[in-house]
Amino acid sequence: MMMRMIDQHNLVLCVALSSLCIAFAPWISIEAAPPSSLITQLPGFKTSFPSKHYSGYITVDGNVESGKNLFYYFVSSERNPAKDPVVLWLNGGPGCSSFDGFVYEHGPFNFEASRTEGNLPTLHINPYSWSKVSSIIYLDSPAGVGLSYSKNSSKYNTGDLQTASDTHAFLLKWFEEFPEFLENPFYISGESYAGIYVPTLAYEVVKGIKGGIKPVINFKGYMIGNGVTDNTFDGNAFIPFVHGMGLISDSIYEEVKAYCKGNDDESDMCSKSYLKVDRAIEDLNVYNILEPCYHNSNTGSTGNVSLPTSFKELGKSEKPHPHPVRKRMFGRAWPLKGTVKEGPVTLWPQLAEDGHIPCVSDEVATSWLNNQEVRQAIHAKPKSVAGPWELCTRRIYYNHDAGSMIPYHKKLTIMGYRALIFSGDHDMCVPFTGTEAWTRSLGYKIIDEWRPWTSNDQVAGYLQAYNNHLIFLTVKGAGHTVPEYKPREALDFYSRWLEGKSI
Ligand SMILES: *[C@@H]1O[C@H](CO)[C@@H](O)[C@H](O)[C@H]1NC(C)=O
Ligand SMILES: *[C@@H]1O[C@H](CO)[C@@H](O)[C@H](O)[C@H]1NC(C)=O
Repeated sequence: MMMRMIDQHNLVLCVALSSLCIAFAPWISIEAAPPSSLITQLPGFKTSFPSKHYSGYITVDGNVESGKNLFYYFVSSERNPAKDPVVLWLNGGPGCSSFDGFVYEHGPFNFEASRTEGNLPTLHINPYSWSKVSSIIYLDSPAGVGLSYSKNSSKYNTGDLQTASDTHAFLLKWFEEFPEFLENPFYISGESYAGIYVPTLAYEVVKGIKGGIKPVINFKGYMIGNGVTDNTFDGNAFIPFVHGMGLISDSIYEEVKAYCKGNDDESDMCSKSYLKVDRAIEDLNVYNILEPCYHNSNTGSTGNVSLPTSFKELGKSEKPHPHPVRKRMFGRAWPLKGTVKEGPVTLWPQLAEDGHIPCVSDEVATSWLNNQEVRQAIHAKPKSVAGPWELCTRRIYYNHDAGSMIPYHKKLTIMGYRALIFSGDHDMCVPFTGTEAWTRSLGYKIIDEWRPWTSNDQVAGYLQAYNNHLIFLTVKGAGHTVPEYKPREALDFYSRWLEGKSI
């Protein structure tokens, strides 16, 4: 990066988840999973499941009455579940449900919104589901998020370290219930604030393996998309990004660079020049600068806003039933004045209450996951027990207490665990500039210098590979939630990386 210390205190930073084959599948014979967790039908889905799906609760830190009941949805691989890797997926927030990944990003279905209000969406097979090449555990974490709950609400008071320890406990119990998957290679993945969840959890898992904790998890590596990592790197990434993307002029760039000394510069001169940056970017969609977002601080989240037509056309992708663009400025991330700092993290609904955030809608996921028949089908507790499903919750109290993730990445990669760090290159929320800079700062030898990678015979982005199995990769034109914008490309790099091939 050209710039070392740049103020960004007005920065909106967000951090803010074939039926015939089944009969001959090789894994039938080794199945040991609890039958009670098997999903046999799903409202809105009319054909046969392409692989086995399981879901339910695993309780940690106490019993069902006193502990944390963590909800998972497990999609076994549609290819060879006996051999394919098992991947844990975590959305960020903190406070956001991993059903975001399931419904909107790389889950087994595409959800087609109903044209009739109040009706459930229709589910179709997603040809770019990550379950084409791996088994995936979608986990709602920490307790209080998504369908996970505790009857003791003081368990909703948590932080990075507690969450990592709880999720590790979850994994040990999960593998006890699904012992047939213990031998498969295991990976941890996630995006946005999961940039914190993933390394901290990976570290717990590794400590467990080294400490002889049973069952032994066959942990191989981790994958993070547009992940929060380090206050300084993430903070300083913003101005170079908006400048490089042509969102601010050279002279504004030079002014900010001259007047702002560091992340926390609150001087008048810095604030003044920073206002120019704010004015330039305030109406952009922070999750993908190519997409419009309607801002209207007067209408609030339920207001009758007149969306530009182009807005409704967005989100068109190779998915056969594209969602209209999700009308929100948050979701898996929250707009925050400044970077993620140590201490309590502001959850996005709290900011929304202050009138900061206008565009809200996650109708498809919200209507589906709050439907009682759906909840019954997926073995989730009703609203009276687990509460309403929300994309991101405000019922947890979350403390960012693990500090920078850079020491974690160093330890894990030096120990030989593989790491794929990827960025949708049009995300302004956790811009690629910071991720590129921190991966480079580890100082590892470059073994594959910056080059395009391709998907469908087109350049899909760029990558640089380092020693110690570290890869930094961009996805061209993608926003914060890469598989949502570029499903085919995402499945391509995902499957190549998991198979240990060159991307
Ligand atoms: C609720 O959880 C807290 C924190 O774990 C604990 O101190 C307290 O005793 C629990 N309360 C009940 C009623 O179980
Ligand atoms: C929203 O706009 C429609 C069409 O103009 C109108 O019928 C409806 O009453 C409005 N709703 C609210 C809440 O203002």
